[in-house]
Amino acid sequence: MNILITGGAGFIGSAVIRYLINETKHNILNVDKLTYAGNLESLAAVANNPRYHFCQADICDKNHLIQLFNNFQPDAVMHLAAESHVDRSISSSAEFIQTNIVGTFQLLEASRHYWNSLSKEKQSLFRFHHISTDEVYGDLNNSATELFTEVTPYAPSSPYSASKASSDHLVRAWYRTYGLPVIITNCSNNYGPYHFPEKLIPLTILNAMQGKKLPVYGNGEQIRDWLYVEDHARALYVVVTKAKAGETYNIGGHNEQKNIDVVKDICSLLDELVPNKTFGITSYKELITFIPDRPGHDVRYAIDATKIKRDLNWVPQESFQSGLRKTVLWYLNNQEWVNRILTGEYQKWIQKQYQS
Ligand SMILES: NC(=O)c1ccc[n+]([C@@H]2O[C@H](COP(=O)([O-])OP(=O)(O)OC[C@H]3O[C@@H](n4cnc5c(N)ncnc54)[C@H](O)[C@@H]3O)[C@@H](O)[C@H]2O)c1
Repeated sequence: MNILITGGAGFIGSAVIRYLINETKHNILNVDKLTYAGNLESLAAVANNPRYHFCQADICDKNHLIQLFNNFQPDAVMHLAAESHVDRSISSSAEFIQTNIVGTFQLLEASRHYWNSLSKEKQSLFRFHHISTDEVYGDLNNSATELFTEVTPYAPSSPYSASKASSDHLVRAWYRTYGLPVIITNCSNNYGPYHFPEKLIPLTILNAMQGKKLPVYGNGEQIRDWLYVEDHARALYVVVTKAKAGETYNIGGHNEQKNIDVVKDICSLLDELVPNKTFGITSYKELITFIPDRPGHDVRYAIDATKIKRDLNWVPQESFQSGLRKTVLWYLNNQEWVNRILTGEYQKWIQKQYQS
C-alpha cells in the first residue's frame, strides 16, 4: 500500500511511521508543516529507508495536497496533523480552528477529488482514516463507572476538543454525503518516547531532572486513561487495514490514573533510577506544586475499547507501569534530543539535514 500520513513528524505520527517502516512493507509519504511540534529527528531511524518520503506542506493548502495525491497515488490516508495542546488552545485558538477544522476540510476535499478519479475497485478499497481524541465526548463524573463508547454524544469542553469534534463531524459528513470511505478513531491520552516536553509526562520528567517545580493543575484529582504510543500505532495500523468504511473505534489503554498519581509515579521511578540529587531534596515528590486549575478542565476521561477488541482483535500490550518505566528511561537516555528541541538547536539540525 501507499499510505499518505499527515502530521508524521509529530509525537503519534512519528510512532506510526516508525512502526510502518519497521514492521510492514508499505510506502509512506509524510506530509507535515513542521510546526513547533513537528520534529523530523524523531524519524531519523527510518529517514533513509527508500519506502519513506517526506514533504513539508500545510494541510490547509488544497492545491499542494492535490498535487501530492496525484504523484503519490495513496491507497489510504492517515490524518494525524493537528494542533494538539489544550493549554495552547485556551490562550490562542486561531491555529486550532485553522488546522484542525479548515485543514481537515481541505484534506477531505483533496482526498475526494483524488478518490473520484480512481477505478470503482480502488475506490472501494481506499480509506481516509481520521485520528481523533476521546476529548470530543467531554468529561465523566469522578465517581462514575461510566465509560465513553462509540455512541457517547459529543460535548467538547476546550477549544482543542471542540475543533477536533468539528473535524470528526466533517469527516462523517463526507462519508454520508459523498461516499468517501472514512474511518474515525478516538483515542485516550498517549504517552511514550519523543513526546514534546509541554505535555504532563515529559514535562514532569524533564522538570524533575533539573530540580524545577512539578506543576499539577488544581488538586490533581483529574483522571485520564493512558495509552502507550506504540500500542496506539499498532491499533491505527489494524484499523486502517481492516476496518470497514464508515466505522468508528474508541482506542484506550484501560489505564485510568489521577494526574497526581502519574506525577508521583514518575517521581518514584526517578528516585530509583537517578537517586543522586544535587538540589537539596530527598525525593522528587518534594518538587510537586499545585497551581490554579485550567479553565474548563475536564474531570475524568475513560474509554470503553471493547469494540476494537471484539472486531479487530486489538488490545494494548503495555501496562502503565511498564510503559511509564520505558518512557522515563527513554528521556534519561535521550537528553540530546530534548536539549536540541528546548534550545532551538533543532531548527539548525533540520537545515543541516536538508543541505546534506
Ligand atoms: N497526544 C495524544 O495524547 C492524543 C490523543 C488522542 C488523539 N490525538 C490526536 O492524534 C493526532 C496526533 O497527535 P500528536 O500528539 O502526535 O500531535 P503533535 O502536536 O505531536 O503533532 C502534530 C503534527 O502535526 C503537524 N501539523 C500541525 N499543523 C499542521 C498543518 N497545518 N499542516 C501539516 N502539518 C501540521 C505538526 O508539525 C506536528 O508534526 C492529533 O490529531 C491529535 O488530536 C492525540
